[in-house]
Formats: sequence, structure tokens, C-alpha cells
Amino acid sequence: MQYKFKIAGGDFSNAGTVASSVKKILRQLNIDHAISKRIVISLYEGEVNVVAHAYSGNIDVEINNEKIKIVITDKGPGIPDIPKAMEEGFSTASPQVREMGFGAGMGLSNMKKNCDLLNITSEPGIGTVVEMITNLKSDAR
Ligand SMILES: Nc1ncnc2c1ncn2[C@@H]1O[C@H](COP(=O)(O)OP(=O)(O)O)[C@@H](O)[C@H]1O
Ligand SMILES: [Mg+2]
Repeated sequence: MQYKFKIAGGDFSNAGTVASSVKKILRQLNIDHAISKRIVISLYEGEVNVVAHAYSGNIDVEINNEKIKIVITDKGPGIPDIPKAMEEGFSTASPQVREMGFGAGMGLSNMKKNCDLLNITSEPGIGTVVEMITNLKSDAR
């Protein structure tokens, strides 16, 4: 199964809607709650990052019997130093974004913890691609 979503940068009122749609899909597929929770957390963080740090983005979700693959592609400033950005607490979020409760600098490290495979590629000035793969079968972990 394949699903596609669009996200608008700066649209904080809709941040999280893709994560909740995917949560519903996973519930309908009877995916183990603990696994589904990890997937939804990492998707939410990736989605919020597009809203907070990029101009626009696309999310592609592919689900088969074994795994879920989520690819978040955005147009934006990109991430110049990915290892630095992965550090807990590192954030370039603006004061306005922080006032809304975002920008704790824990998103990327949360994504790393909660999916089986996280791959980030980025071109400064162009955008970022975040790929997350997670096994759907509890016994495979
Ligand atoms: N999609 C993105 N586009 C550009 N920069 C990003 C993106 N995602 C993350 N970053 C950069 O990585 C930093 C750390 O991200 P994250 O751990 O999610 O923390 P936060 O979003 O709270 O700042 C961000 O502050 C930003 O500088
Ligand atoms: Mg974040």
C-alpha cells in the first residue's frame, strides 16, 4: 500500500495531521501498538521538522507485510551538518517557534531511537530527504 501526503512549511496548526492519519492506518492494519507508537512518534517529529524548518514537503508511506517505509522530502534550507543536528538539544528553531512549544532539539534523536533505520541526506539550499524504515513484526526486532 502506498500513501502520499503534502506538508506546508510554517503551518503549525496542521503539524501532526500526517502522523495521525498514519496512526489510523496502522490501527486498521492491526499493527502492534508498541510498534505503531514508535512509527508515529518518528513520523510526527519528521513532519514537525518540515513545518518548523523547511518551506514545503512531501511524505511517501509504503507499507507491506513486513515493514513500513516513510520518506519525507522537503524543499528548504537543508541541514549543513547532520551529525551536529542529530545531537540531543541541538536546535536552530527561532524564538517564535520555541514559544509554540517546538524546538527542544530532541526530534532527530527521537527519530533515531524509534525507527529501525534512519537515513538522512541533505543538500544545503535545496532540501532534505529523511528515510525511515521500521519492521512491523514484533518478533523481528
Ligand atoms: N527538514 C529539515 N530541514 C532543515 N533543517 C532541519 C530539518 N530537520 C531538522 N533540521 C535541523 O536540525 C535541527 C535539529 O532538529 P530536531 O532534533 O528535530 O530539533 P528541533 O526541531 O527541535 O530544532 C533543527 O533545529 C534544524 O536546524
Ligand atoms: Mg524537530
